[in-house]
Amino acid sequence: MKILVTGKNGQLGRELQNLCPIEHELISLSREELDISDRQMVETVIQQHCPEVIINAAAYTAVDKAEKEQNLVFSVNLDGALNLAKFCKQFGIRFIHISTDFVFDGQKSSPYSELDEIAPLGVYGASKAEAEIAIQKIFPESVIIRTAWVYSVYGNNFVNTMLRLMSDKEQLGVVADQVGTPTWTGTLAKVLFALVKKESAKGIYHCTDLGVASWYDFAVAIFEEGKIYGLIPRDKKLTINAITTEDYPTPAKRPSYSVLDKSRLTKELDVELQNWRNILQQALSIKAQKL
Ligand SMILES: NC(=O)c1ccc[n+]([C@@H]2O[C@H](COP(=O)([O-])OP(=O)(O)OC[C@H]3O[C@@H](n4cnc5c(N)ncnc54)[C@H](OP(=O)(O)O)[C@@H]3O)[C@@H](O)[C@H]2O)c1
Repeated sequence: MKILVTGKNGQLGRELQNLCPIEHELISLSREELDISDRQMVETVIQQHCPEVIINAAAYTAVDKAEKEQNLVFSVNLDGALNLAKFCKQFGIRFIHISTDFVFDGQKSSPYSELDEIAPLGVYGASKAEAEIAIQKIFPESVIIRTAWVYSVYGNNFVNTMLRLMSDKEQLGVVADQVGTPTWTGTLAKVLFALVKKESAKGIYHCTDLGVASWYDFAVAIFEEGKIYGLIPRDKKLTINAITTEDYPTPAKRPSYSVLDKSRLTKELDVELQNWRNILQQALSIKAQKL
């Protein structure tokens, strides 16, 4: 398969390059090479490469900054995604798009299914929610993967921020009343390549690692595992305090509960998901080997 990936330098974009099975030809393009919000550029670049599948790993992902940059957010996350979907439909290309748990308001207390009502709380979530609706309207054969709490060994994410802070500080406060599931980009890449193979797949699928955690639980696990893998000094003393969302106000409101039900994905695809903590160990061991 010839697969074109947008957002080459993002967390997911980089992991797709790392983990691409040998049978595929992967064309990964940066924002400079393919700005998805530029309709003309999207058409030209697609015609130039003639891919069989497009995976849209490009997005505006700065959730808090998004509250003040609504036009830019929507031009990437809605217009950009739609540009891709339209030309995929026109040229007979499979389209795989990535969405987010932030399309939900977090009011549930059991895992969200693909059929649950969406009700985003902030600008970023709204842009992703509108994109889901518009993509399904104009090109219903598209696949949309909703994921959550994404981290990789590269770039800015919760794991890398925590590792840095934990090495420097003696006290840390981490929010304990937002619950979800951390997801390694390696899991997402594996699932995305399985979806590429499964040509009958269409519609929305949920994909995260397994299990449930608060940001506090995740931080404690990063500290414990980070020491084991030599990413934090083994004798480091640190107090991690569980705090509330109120103690740590952010410009964008976040869902307090966003665990996703993955049963559609695991039933229809030949993939096995693993508990987030096992996956964290694998990711940190890879990070340690890269140092
Ligand atoms: N991160 C999370 O916790 C999370 C959670 C749920 C869902 N998701 C979704 O998962 C997907 C991948 O996220 P990620 O964490 O890998 O994001 P990321 O690391 O922020 O990467 C996004 C990439 O998109 C690129 N980009 C931005 N605007 C663009 C444009 N107009 N045209 C082309 N490329 C553009 C960025 O380019 P530059 O490098 O030039 O900035 C960046 O490389 C996104 O759809 C995101 O919404 C993420």
